[in-house]
Amino acid sequence: MEKKFMEVEIRKRRKIKFWKLCTIFLIISTVLCFILCIYYSLKKDKEDCSLQNKDSPCSSNPCYYNSTCAVVDDALFCICPAGYIGTYCEVTPCTTEPCLNNGTCTVVEESYVCVCPDTYGGTTCDDRKIKDCNDLPQNSSSGVYTLYLENNMEISVFCEMSVDDGGWTVVQRRLDGKTNFLRFWDDYKIGFGNLTGEHWLGNDNLHYILLQNAYKVRFDLEDFDGNTAYALYNTFNVSNEESGYTLRISDYSGTAGDSMKDSQGNTHDNFMFTTIDRDNDVTSSNCAINKLSPWWHARCTWSNINGLYLEGLNKGVMSCDNVVTRDQWGARPSKSINLMSTPVSFVFIHHTAMSYCFDQNACSQELKVIQNFHMDNRSWDDIGYNFMIGEDGQVYEARGWDRVGAHTHGWNDIAVAFSIMGNFNDRVPNDKALTALKNVIACGIRMGKITHNYKMYGHRDVRQTECPGNSFYALLQTWPHFGHTKPVKPTSSSHHQTQTSD
Ligand SMILES: *[C@@H]1O[C@H](CO)[C@@H](O)[C@H](O)[C@H]1NC(C)=O
Ligand SMILES: *[C@@H]1O[C@H](CO)[C@@H](O)[C@H](O)[C@H]1NC(C)=O
Ligand SMILES: *[C@@H]1O[C@H](CO)[C@@H](O)[C@H](O)[C@H]1NC(C)=O
Ligand SMILES: *[C@@H]1O[C@H](CO)[C@@H](O)[C@H](O)[C@H]1NC(C)=O
Ligand SMILES: *[C@@H]1O[C@H](CO)[C@@H](O)[C@H](O)[C@H]1NC(C)=O
Ligand SMILES: *[C@@H]1O[C@H](CO)[C@@H](O)[C@H](O)[C@H]1NC(C)=O
Repeated sequence: MEKKFMEVEIRKRRKIKFWKLCTIFLIISTVLCFILCIYYSLKKDKEDCSLQNKDSPCSSNPCYYNSTCAVVDDALFCICPAGYIGTYCEVTPCTTEPCLNNGTCTVVEESYVCVCPDTYGGTTCDDRKIKDCNDLPQNSSSGVYTLYLENNMEISVFCEMSVDDGGWTVVQRRLDGKTNFLRFWDDYKIGFGNLTGEHWLGNDNLHYILLQNAYKVRFDLEDFDGNTAYALYNTFNVSNEESGYTLRISDYSGTAGDSMKDSQGNTHDNFMFTTIDRDNDVTSSNCAINKLSPWWHARCTWSNINGLYLEGLNKGVMSCDNVVTRDQWGARPSKSINLMSTPVSFVFIHHTAMSYCFDQNACSQELKVIQNFHMDNRSWDDIGYNFMIGEDGQVYEARGWDRVGAHTHGWNDIAVAFSIMGNFNDRVPNDKALTALKNVIACGIRMGKITHNYKMYGHRDVRQTECPGNSFYALLQTWPHFGHTKPVKPTSSSHHQTQTSD
């Protein structure tokens, strides 16, 4: 009985166990099934992916510029950023290579930006940036730079980057007086000298630079004691060669005083450039020769920055009254010009032993004959003397005060020579001529061209010649500065004989 009961009970219990087991089994199998499902689904995904990597059109990463690659229905599809187009996003605003002159193109917001090399600017780097020294970066140091002008000229200039905030293109520089500034038109046209030293930029260059913008000009001056001064003109322009490099200048400020004026106070504004071989000034003479300074002369000038480099006071500001200039008597241009230092201590007197002349026409004619003879037959650079005097009582400018002559062998670079036109063996020059001679010597002393204690000689004192004629020589011997002992050359310096004369 008990067993039966037990059995029932057991059975009962078995029944219960079976159900529990069944439930557990169901749960376990569900979990297993789930895990397997995940496993297989993962496995499946993995297999799918490896399949895709092997064969997808995206595997070679054909989309340009890091754009996203996608495959839709086995076809490639590049998702392009803004501004990029084309199947592979390969077309951009930079595709047409819009940046010139080695500029680097970058796509920015559906457009492009060019990063230009230093010397170029503008949206496409088409703009040559350094058109004048003011285009240089502020920190640039003074020195020689290449300018790229708007007319495509490339020129070298010296940029002054320290004076007055820098950015100045140097037109003219004089430092030591070693460069000759007494030059012809063509030299001033193209420029001369050494850019790191003394030079003239060149009038053509200057004109083309000034065409590009509105400019001002600054003159910086320093004397031998280190005193400095400047003159600033707020407007500055220079026209082309055809119109004589006409100067426009106005609106002065500064410490040097406004020297762009002539002796009558007229401004140099609107005047042309004058050189010793091209006379564009408004005087009847040539101011470049009078002042030994090619410049924008009006009625000559106060400013003389291209004049002789004189250590100390510029004594050459006055000219002698009533000197008939080379232009006035119709001189030919010199073949070349050699300067000597003044004042000189020796004055030589000559006669021409040729025709007398008693009026300006005849004397001018005679000067031309003598000049041709000296230049063509003798092959000298110019008429030999410094000044000539006619019996019309006028002094005629020959080589002038500052040039080495060809008159008195061995003395040409330390003396000035005056020659009276005519032959004075048998008579002395008339009073007009003698007065003119005395006056021009006095003027030479005032101008600092002849020393106060100069000695005067006749040509025959240093040369086997009748010159300046027996009668005239006898008269000269009575004059106070006449040297009664033979002249002796100073030994302190060696002098070069550039030309000879008999
Ligand atoms: C593409 O991505 C690489 C790596 O991030 C980067 O160096 C490169 O500049 C990117 N190229 C473009 C065109 O954006
Ligand atoms: C561009 O770069 C090349 C190679 O560096 C050079 O030869 C060429 O002169 C450059 N062009 C310009 C306009 O700077
Ligand atoms: C210019 O010089 C200053 C001081 O030396 C410096 O701070 C600045 O970065 C420089 N600028 C350029 C453009 O080189
Ligand atoms: C140019 O001038 C500078 C400064 O006076 C000098 O150092 C240099 O040697 C000169 N160069 C030439 C080629 O004359
Ligand atoms: C400078 O002169 C030229 C003519 O020679 C003229 O074309 C130009 O406009 C002038 N510049 C200024 C700033 O007036
Ligand atoms: C100068 O040379 C020219 C041409 O050779 C000649 O005709 C003339 O006679 C010469 N004059 C003198 C004064 O010798």
